[in-house]
Amino acid sequence: MRHLLDIVDLSTEEIDELLDTADDIIANPDKYRDVCKYKKLATLFFEPSTRTRLSFESAMLSLGGSVLGFSDSKNSSASKGESVADTIRVVSCYSDIIAMRHPKEGAPLVASMKSGVPIINAGDGGHNHPTQTLTDLLTIRREKGRLNNLTVGFCGDLKFGRTVHSLISALSRYENINIVLISPDELKLPSYIKKDVLVKNNIAYEETEDLCAVMSKLDILYMTRVQQERFFNEADYIRLKDSYILDKEKMEYAKEDMCILHPLPRVNEISTEIDDDPRACYFKQVANGKNVRMALIMKLLEVQA
Ligand code: CP
Repeated sequence: MRHLLDIVDLSTEEIDELLDTADDIIANPDKYRDVCKYKKLATLFFEPSTRTRLSFESAMLSLGGSVLGFSDSKNSSASKGESVADTIRVVSCYSDIIAMRHPKEGAPLVASMKSGVPIINAGDGGHNHPTQTLTDLLTIRREKGRLNNLTVGFCGDLKFGRTVHSLISALSRYENINIVLISPDELKLPSYIKKDVLVKNNIAYEETEDLCAVMSKLDILYMTRVQQERFFNEADYIRLKDSYILDKEKMEYAKEDMCILHPLPRVNEISTEIDDDPRACYFKQVANGKNVRMALIMKLLEVQA
């Protein structure tokens, strides 16, 4: 039985295969209509979500399966004090696969130790979000035609942004990747990721606070929201939340074919005036998320079209 807790749980070949399957799902959706008939996906969201939960549910329904679960732990027995371990032992009696989100880093790992069915980490605290990474990789590959030879800028909250941590880890496996880290000093990428991922894999990287100064070299600009829910101090959040706002003026510095990604939700960090720019790919990214999650569910349930 396989789980997906961290993007490193998948080999590069497996990631490439998942992206190939997602491309085929996009091209031939009818081929996949019944492959998970009679299978059940449970979505256990102990933290809010729109895209991840609904795309998982839509993915399973598009594969012919069924869904159950909760979108708010207040409506589950977690609110009475039931542990994650017990919740998972129970829900794995009712489902064939579980996608879970939890505010505590490592909760999906605990779940995987008690589960009788595959566990998918749908985001754990400020740690990891591997299925967002599959979404991001699929979008980059579809937009740029490659996952190598890219200069990728990450802008905003690089400290708490779990999607940033997972995507940097995934991209570090591909050839000739240059990373540009754009953030205020207080929201810099954690040192352990620089050391264990960037330095260890010999990935060229630079850090700056100035988005406009580096914009012209970027093939991909990955914007992120400042993660209000991870701050201990409201005043710090208010001071930092609008550190970067991508607008038409800043886009003047960008390459003609630069691709703008954002895991969403956005707050202020991308002006809506950018949404019609052909370089704005964040809503295509949303659509890709469902298709790559279909591919992942099939892989973990070991079913084929
Ligand atoms: N990208 C993402 O994780 O969005 P949600 O929080 O809406 O699931």
